[in-house]
Amino acid sequence: MLTSTVVIFCFLVPSLGWTMPAADIHLERRDVPPETLTWLTLFSEYSAAATCAANFNSQGSKVVCDPGVCPILEQIDTTVITGFMGHNPGNTTGFLAVDKTNELIVLSFRGSRTQGNWVTDFEYGQVPIYGICPGCYVHHGYYYAWGNFSQYIMPSINQLAAQYPRYHIIFTGHSFGGALATLGAVLEGTANRPISLYTFGCPQVGNHTFAQFITGNTAGNGYRVTHSDDPVPRAFSTSPEVNKTWQYSTTSPEFWITSGNDMPVTTSDIQVIWGIDNKNGNLGTTGLDLAAHNWYIGNMSGCSTN
Ligand SMILES: *[C@@H]1O[C@H](CO)[C@@H](O)[C@H](O)[C@H]1NC(C)=O
Ligand SMILES: *[C@@H]1O[C@H](CO)[C@@H](O)[C@H](O)[C@H]1NC(C)=O
Ligand SMILES: *[C@@H]1O[C@H](CO)[C@@H](O)[C@H](O)[C@H]1NC(C)=O
Ligand SMILES: *[C@@H]1O[C@H](CO)[C@@H](O)[C@H](O)[C@H]1NC(C)=O
Ligand SMILES: *[C@@H]1O[C@H](CO)[C@@H](O)[C@H](O)[C@H]1NC(C)=O
Repeated sequence: MLTSTVVIFCFLVPSLGWTMPAADIHLERRDVPPETLTWLTLFSEYSAAATCAANFNSQGSKVVCDPGVCPILEQIDTTVITGFMGHNPGNTTGFLAVDKTNELIVLSFRGSRTQGNWVTDFEYGQVPIYGICPGCYVHHGYYYAWGNFSQYIMPSINQLAAQYPRYHIIFTGHSFGGALATLGAVLEGTANRPISLYTFGCPQVGNHTFAQFITGNTAGNGYRVTHSDDPVPRAFSTSPEVNKTWQYSTTSPEFWITSGNDMPVTTSDIQVIWGIDNKNGNLGTTGLDLAAHNWYIGNMSGCSTN
């Protein structure tokens, strides 16, 4: 998808002349348990499905993708409670679904696909989060996109949580969608309403203090998945244009997929990298491999036409 093509070229072209040392391949953990891969695969499919108009324009139908793109979702009992499209600022798009097979309430955001999304990606100046997180500064485009959208979606989520008290709440998304899921999970998750977070190719959302805050607030429930040398998860902190003014950090833990583009992913292809700004994973890679951004545990375009 063209999504981040624009964003990333503009961010990184000025830095193409830089050479970085090859990543120190120090592996914190070689692979993940099979259950972890099962969940990551499920939410990779949910994130891909947010590109499908059949989901983001839906109410009451099953979550779908183009044939063969979401094989797990095809087999399980899902219902879109409400699709959403074009919420501003950000042109936020995706769907809220109930998954009766896995007993989940899933909020899934689409990655950047439209002018409205790209404009927001570029609003990388930061704003402080007052109150709940002293010292935290976050991407202002993502912050206001989530802030406005939250007023629309949280009442529905609270209603579903009351209706299905045993179900887990999951926020997920690819790219831009991962950033919105991150802010949502961190700002709305509470002891009474825990929210688990699964992001794929998520850009950096805020500064070091915010990264620490996320790690503390999603402990055990935060999965930031990256793929090989995907440029998006490291774009802000490695762009001189951005980093001369703003400090961006990556969050921990990272689940770093090391298999190639268009390849299936096995448990031994995922390395768990601990520590904020750890360069042993995606952050230590270089280059503009946009295909790596669009392939996670499957094709991140759930549908080709929307
Ligand atoms: C975002 O929400 C604020 C406060 O509710 C509102 O004043 C503003 O108009 C909204 N912005 C957009 C672009 O919808
Ligand atoms: C917002 O997203 C919708 C759905 O993809 C699209 O039709 C529309 O053109 C987008 N608007 C802007 C301003 O990007
Ligand atoms: C937080 O973000 C601001 C703005 O990017 C930056 O100046 C500051 O150094 C950051 N501080 C920490 C501790 O993360
Ligand atoms: C900003 O990005 C450049 C290029 O990637 C890098 O060499 C530099 O160390 C970065 N600066 C900071 C403060 O992270
Ligand atoms: C992913 O899907 C898109 C849209 O259907 C298609 O254009 C692209 O070739 C696919 N990519 C891979 C690696 O299969």
